[in-house]
Amino acid sequence: LRGRSLSVTSLGGLPQWEADPLPVEDLLLFEVSWEVANKVGGICTVIQTKAKTTADEWGENYFLVGPYFEPNMKTQVEQCEPVNDAVRRAVSTMNEHGCKVHFGRWLIEGSPYVVLFDIGSSAQNLDRWKGDFWEACGVGIPHHDREANDMLIFGSLTAWFLKEVADHADGKHIIAQFHEWQAGTGLILSRARKLPIATVFTTHATLLGRYLCAANIDFYNQLDKFDIDKEAGERQIYHRYCMERASVHCAHVFTTVSEITAIEAEHMLKRKPDVVTPNGLNVKKFSAVHEFQNLHAMYKARIQDFVRGHFYGHLDFDLEKTLFLFIAGRYEFSNKGADIFLESLSRLNFLLRMHKSNVTVVVFFIMPAKTNNFNVETLKGQAVRKQLWDTVHSMKEKFGKKLYDALLRGEIPDMNNILDRDDLTIMKRAIFSTQRHSLPPVTTHNMIDDSTDPILSTIRRIGLFNNRADRVKVILHPEFLSSTSPLLPMDYEEFVRGCHLGVFPSYYEPWGYTPAECTVMGIPSVTTNLSGFGCFMQEHVADPTAYGIYIVDRRFRSPDDSCNQLTQFLYGFCKQSRRQRIIQRNRTERLSDLLDWRYLGRYHQHARHLTLSRAFPDKFHMEPMSPPTTEGFKYPRPSSVPPSPSGSQTSSPQSSDVEDEGNEDGRYNEEEEAERDRRNIKSPFALNHVPWGKKKLHGEYKN
Ligand code: UDP
Ligand code: G6P
Ligand code: GLC
Repeated sequence: LRGRSLSVTSLGGLPQWEADPLPVEDLLLFEVSWEVANKVGGICTVIQTKAKTTADEWGENYFLVGPYFEPNMKTQVEQCEPVNDAVRRAVSTMNEHGCKVHFGRWLIEGSPYVVLFDIGSSAQNLDRWKGDFWEACGVGIPHHDREANDMLIFGSLTAWFLKEVADHADGKHIIAQFHEWQAGTGLILSRARKLPIATVFTTHATLLGRYLCAANIDFYNQLDKFDIDKEAGERQIYHRYCMERASVHCAHVFTTVSEITAIEAEHMLKRKPDVVTPNGLNVKKFSAVHEFQNLHAMYKARIQDFVRGHFYGHLDFDLEKTLFLFIAGRYEFSNKGADIFLESLSRLNFLLRMHKSNVTVVVFFIMPAKTNNFNVETLKGQAVRKQLWDTVHSMKEKFGKKLYDALLRGEIPDMNNILDRDDLTIMKRAIFSTQRHSLPPVTTHNMIDDSTDPILSTIRRIGLFNNRADRVKVILHPEFLSSTSPLLPMDYEEFVRGCHLGVFPSYYEPWGYTPAECTVMGIPSVTTNLSGFGCFMQEHVADPTAYGIYIVDRRFRSPDDSCNQLTQFLYGFCKQSRRQRIIQRNRTERLSDLLDWRYLGRYHQHARHLTLSRAFPDKFHMEPMSPPTTEGFKYPRPSSVPPSPSGSQTSSPQSSDVEDEGNEDGRYNEEEEAERDRRNIKSPFALNHVPWGKKKLHGEYKN
C-alpha cells in the first residue's frame, strides 16, 4: 500500500485527504444489501448514490449483491453476462444447483454490476441452512419470523456465492461490505467458513435503538443502563438482535453512518465502530447557477395545481402567499418526529390566526401506510379542477374568436355582450360544481387502519380539519410519490424542489437522508440534534440556520420546549418575504459540496484500506493509520450575516412582513456573497493523522 499517493481533491475549499491508492485491479469489491435495486428506505439511497464514485474508482471489479424481485429487475436492471471469470463461474455453479441467480447492470448512474438472488427458489433449503447457521453461531431463528428466515436464505446464498468467487479469484483479494443486520448472516457464515475475504459491516441503525425509541423511552439518557439482552427478549427480537450483534463482532471492520449512532452501537452492540462513514449524495451542479431556483418555481406550480383541486370550493386563500411544507419517510410516527410536528402545526395555526397573517401553510405528510387506494373525494377534487380548466379553455376560445372577428371588422367589441346567456349559464354551472358540503379531506387515500392511525388520530385530537379559518392545512399522502400517480404525478425529487421547507424533527434518525436531499436541491429543512445529519451540520457549519438548516434541540430540552422551538422556526419561516426565501435557498444550496460523495466517499475508502490491512496483514499494511477527518473544519457563516451573540437562532435572512419579489439584483449580490464565502473557506489542514475516537460527543448524554 505504500509508495504511491492518492490525493483526494478538495471541493469548494473542503479539507483534503491523502492516502495510498488501493491496487483495485488486483482486488474485487462486493457490497451486499437487501436494498440493492430494492427501494425500502435510506439504505437504498446510500448504495444508489454512492455507486457512481465507487464505480469510477473500481471499474469492472465492483459488484452489488441483493435480492431478486421480478418487478424491480424488469424496470431497473439490464441483464447481461458477467465478464469476470470468477463471478461468471460462481453464478453458473449456483444456477446448476437449482438456485436462481440473476446478473446484470443496475440502470443508475455508474451502472454497477448486480448479482440478485431469488430467495423463493431456494426456500426448500431453509431448514438445512438454519442448522448450518446454528452450528456456525448458535443462533436459532423461529419459523414464524418470515423476514428473518428470508434473511437467512439471502445470507446463505451470499456466503455460498463468495466462496465460489474466492475459489476462482486467481490471486485477487476480495473485500465484502455488508449493510445492516439483514445482510449480516452472509458475513457470519463467511467468517465461520474462514473464507479468505476482508469484511466490513456497516450498520445504519441498531435494532434495539429503533425499538426502544419507538416505545417513547428516554433513550439517550439511559444508553449505558439498559439490560440489552432482556430488552431484546421482551420485544421478541432476540434472534434478530443476535444476528446483528454477531455480524458486528465477526467483521474485520465495523462502521456506522454517524457519530451519534456510533455511541449508540457501543452500548447496544458492544463494539465501538472503527470508522464513521457519513452518508453522501451524488451532487449534480447545474451550469446556470440559478437553475435550481427555476426548477423550484416550475414544480411549485404543479403542486399549486394539485392544491387548487384538493381545496376546490375552499380556495379563499392566496396561492402566491401559500407555503408548502412536508415531512417524508418510512412511517415511524414518533421516531420520525411526526408527533411533535403535528403539535407544532397546531401552535403555528394559532399564531398565524392570532396575528391575522395572510400566509397559508399547506403541509404534506408523505408516509406509506396500508390503504385501499385513493378516496373518492380526493379524486373528485382533481376532476372538478380539470373540468373547470376545460370550461375556461373553451370559453377562452369562443371569446378569442369573437374578439378576432370584431377586430377584423375594425370594431372594438362591446365587452358587455361578448359573452351570451349560454356562456353565463355555463360559468354559473361551473361555479356550482365547485360547491362542496364537506371539508377538504385530510387524507388522499382510504386508510385501512383509519381509526387507529396515529397521524389521523392526532389530527382529530388537535382539530386540524382544513376548516376555512385554519391557516394551516394538512394532507396525508400515505404512499411514496410517483410520476405515474393519477393524483399527484410527480416523483419525489420534483415534489421536494417544488416545496418551501422539509420538516424532519426526528427523535431516532441515525443519518436522515431527507433533509440532506433538501439541502442539495437548495430547499431549507428542519432537522434535529438527535439525527446524524443534524449533528454533522452542527459540527461543520458555523451558523446552520443562516444556511436554511434549522436544528431542533431534542437532546437537552423537554418535548414541550422542543415543540415550542419548532413552532418558532416555522413561524419565523412564514414571516419571511419571497426575496428572503430566495436568498435562503441560494445559501442552502451552497452547502451541497459538504454532502457530496466525492468528498465523503473517503471514509468508505478508509474502511476498505483498514479491512484489507486486518484481513491480509502480510500483503496490506497501513502505517501510520491516517483516517480522514474533518474535525475542526467549519463552513463559515455567510458574510452578509452579522455575527450575533445568540447564534443561529436569529440569523436567518431578516424577517419582514413586507412581501418582496425576488429581483435580479438581489440574486447577483447573492452570487457575489457566495463567491466571497467560497474564497474565505480556508482548509485548516490538508492531511490529518488525528486518531478517530476522541470526539467531543462522547459522554454528552450523561445526566
Ligand atoms: N423517499 C422516496 N420517495 C418518497 C419519500 C421518500 O424515495 O416519496 C426516500 C427519500 O428520498 C430518502 C429515503 O426515502 O432517500 C428515506 O431515507 P431516510 O434516511 O431519511 O430514512 P429511513 O427511511 O432510511 O429511515
Ligand atoms: C424562484 C424563481 C422565482 C420565483 C421564486 C418563488 O426563485 O426563480 O422566479 O419568484 O422562486 O419563490 P417562493 O419562495 O415564493 O416560492
Ligand atoms: C436508516 C436510518 C436513516 C439513514 C439510513 C441510511 O434507515 O433510519 O436515518 O439515513 O439508514 O443510512
